[in-house]
Amino acid sequence: MTIDSEQTAPLTPNLQTAHLTHIDLLSDEDLLLLLTKAQDYADRLQRGQEIDRLLTGRTQINLFFENSTRTNSSFELAGRKLGADVLVLPVAASSVHKGEALRDTVQTMVAMGPDIIIIRNKAEDSCEQILSALNDVALSTVLVNAGTGRNSHPTQALLDAFTILQSLGRNPQEGLDGVRIAITGDIRHSRVANSNAQLLPRLGAEVRFIAPKELMPADDQFPDIEHYSTLSEGLADCHFVMGLRVQFERLEEDFPFSHEEYYQKFGLTHDAMTLARPDAHFMHPGPMNRGVEVDGTLADDQSISLVLQQVANGVATRMAILDALLNR
Ligand code: CP
Repeated sequence: MTIDSEQTAPLTPNLQTAHLTHIDLLSDEDLLLLLTKAQDYADRLQRGQEIDRLLTGRTQINLFFENSTRTNSSFELAGRKLGADVLVLPVAASSVHKGEALRDTVQTMVAMGPDIIIIRNKAEDSCEQILSALNDVALSTVLVNAGTGRNSHPTQALLDAFTILQSLGRNPQEGLDGVRIAITGDIRHSRVANSNAQLLPRLGAEVRFIAPKELMPADDQFPDIEHYSTLSEGLADCHFVMGLRVQFERLEEDFPFSHEEYYQKFGLTHDAMTLARPDAHFMHPGPMNRGVEVDGTLADDQSISLVLQQVANGVATRMAILDALLNR
């Protein structure tokens, strides 16, 4: 489904979904509402305008069972800027390491009365497990997926889409018609790629995958997305090039390339970017492995790289998400 970029109906004033668990569970109206709010918060932050403390008296708990630099800290900052009381559970020092099950940890934290829980966990069905646990104790805590398994990282996809719109000077209603976006690297194991492949085409973009077959998803997972095995073919005429880390910790089989060989074939460099459009931008959700999937000088080249804008937009986008979910 592609969002109708000619749509003129007013945005619904409230988010329809009660939780933000996966991109494909968000309606078109919800997507537009979240992206429009993200744009508003990004503008306010950039101008140094006062932020209404809309979440005063509300409690947010960040429950990250996997490592995170960007997502955890930007959700914490987003909640604090909106006035929420934010608890970041120090999972490494928690009873999780005494064998406590996910549902028990979640029910324990929920018994303390948070309005919203932000979850990162390795199981693909983490959100479904948690919603079931919440249902069992009849509690209506709001749930946000901050990265689960290999399948879902919806808030990253939203901030990526917003960054692309912002870079083009388009508002969310205008969408991404005519925009070609290459996603290259370890697509098979990437929840970022999965959520972006669900979201960006709905905004009108053409998405392409570029990877060796070992890192490509199954052919039938995204039947409308073209697969390319070389940068020279896949990058042609692309406006945005999104690099992804090779997730060596998730590889099921021996990887047939050394880091050097992979960099030779798939490393994103200034030279590789000349294969795309002359005005193409580089993106990366982080963490980056310099010298494996990207050259450090490209990542640091502020005229091409949007990496730090993605990070900054992570705060604004997560403010939009918290505001929209807690003020329905
Ligand atoms: N993009 C992303 O999810 O980064 P972190 O793992 O640092 O949160």
